[in-house]
Amino acid sequence: MKKAAGLVFVSMMIIFGCTRKAAPTIPDRPVEPVAGNKTDTADFNSSNPLVAGKAIFEIKCTKCHKAKNTADWTTDEWRPILNSMVKKAKLNELQVSQVTQYVNAHAKK
Ligand code: HEC
Repeated sequence: MKKAAGLVFVSMMIIFGCTRKAAPTIPDRPVEPVAGNKTDTADFNSSNPLVAGKAIFEIKCTKCHKAKNTADWTTDEWRPILNSMVKKAKLNELQVSQVTQYVNAHAKK
């Protein structure tokens, strides 16, 4: 009985020892940010409206279409577009202000 238990123990050692050695090392993969789920990133909460605005533009404004080129429209042309888009993107007042500042800073001159 004692012998059998010892044998089991030894076999376990061999099996688990080998398993551990044979186990492939899983590389640490960077966790990919999920689009639209970036609200907890530093950028999104940045106190710099241009940084926060860029994050909003790249995340919230790309849910329905690709990121538009801010330089395709002047600030005046952007105004009505943004008015309708911020509603589509369901932005709050602060986000509207941030994305507007970002867009205006990069609008056609
Ligand atoms: C709920 C979907 C949705 C969201 C969110 C959205 N858009 Fe749009 N957007 C559209 C649709 C639909 C159009 C018209 C088709 C197109 O141009 O792709 C459009 C068009 C545009 C255009 C082109 C306007 C023109 O006159 O050609 C711009 C610029 C734009 N969106 C910017 C934005 C910005 C900036 C945001 C974020 C604040 C945003 N969109 C968020 C749906 C959306």
